[in-house]
Amino acid sequence: MIAPAALSVEDAAQLLRNGQLCAFPTETVYGLGADATNADAVLSIYETKGRPRFNPLIIHCADLAMAETLAVFSPLARRLAETFWPGPLSLVLPMQPGNGLADVATAGLNTVALRVPDHPLAQALLRAAALPLAAPSANPSGKLSPTTAQQVWRGFAGKVPVLDGGPCTAGVESTIVAVDGERLIQLRAGALAREEIEAALGMPVEQAVEGAAISAPGMLLSHYAPEAGIRLNAAPRPGEAFLAFGAAAAFDGPTLNLSPSGDLREAARNLFSMLHELDASGATTIAVAPIPQAGLGEAINDRLSRAAAPRT
Ligand code: TXA
Ligand code: MG
Repeated sequence: MIAPAALSVEDAAQLLRNGQLCAFPTETVYGLGADATNADAVLSIYETKGRPRFNPLIIHCADLAMAETLAVFSPLARRLAETFWPGPLSLVLPMQPGNGLADVATAGLNTVALRVPDHPLAQALLRAAALPLAAPSANPSGKLSPTTAQQVWRGFAGKVPVLDGGPCTAGVESTIVAVDGERLIQLRAGALAREEIEAALGMPVEQAVEGAAISAPGMLLSHYAPEAGIRLNAAPRPGEAFLAFGAAAAFDGPTLNLSPSGDLREAARNLFSMLHELDASGATTIAVAPIPQAGLGEAINDRLSRAAAPRT
């Protein structure tokens, strides 16, 4: 497959302003962007990804000022935004009435998930387009998330233009937190560790409970699935591929190490790319070494358990 054509920020902004899709880099993963105020543009995100319509999208803003036109910020929500934006934190907040967002973007909910990405090209694009951008991860629904422009290009068989910003630095999606009065509820573990939020704000971040009133509708059990099967907390068997972490015994098969030194930040950055690469080795099963659950380990283990879940 031929390489994606080099796209400038201005080209990408023009596509988006014309109601077309354009994938763009963020610090977490590549996003499949569309004008969040244009219902037809947003619908083509769902069609292109094969994403269920009940699964709302994260709306990307250039800054807090743009975000405040879309949602109602309580003092606690504003503190979170001021502390962690730009960065890998999505906030679920009450909708600002008459904010112009297409209903399909938020799946008809009365809340909206917002984030301000910390990536120079994403920032430049948001400013050039001067629009809020709906952007789920730029992969077909249920598959591995992309952390390079080439993965996006291959995932959609060259049908989606991609603004190339090189490999993503964080490598897993944003942490999603709902602000519910004075409570903080984590709906998805992600690139900002829960402990870091708790330490900065001096208050607990609760874990979402399955089936609770406040939840992220799109948290499907089988997700992030490579073609190969996944065995977790495992030592590799002959014929398998191996995704190692930390000091690992030699293995006579396709092997990649998320972080030989046992650094969870490095492991998060490598997670999706290494799964893409081991998947391409043709092995039918990928054995994955145990990953500690602390810090970013929570997000890594969340993605791995969904990748390993029975597929429907
Ligand atoms: O890092 C990221 O967040 C990436 C990059 C591209 O920014 N985007 C991303 O989007 O991961 P996506 O569509 O793959 O995940 C969106 C998640 C879904 O689980 C969805 O259910 C949840 O956000 N979500 C969106 N709006 C929500 C709302 N109002 N209430 C609860 N959950 C919401
Ligand atoms: Mg996704």
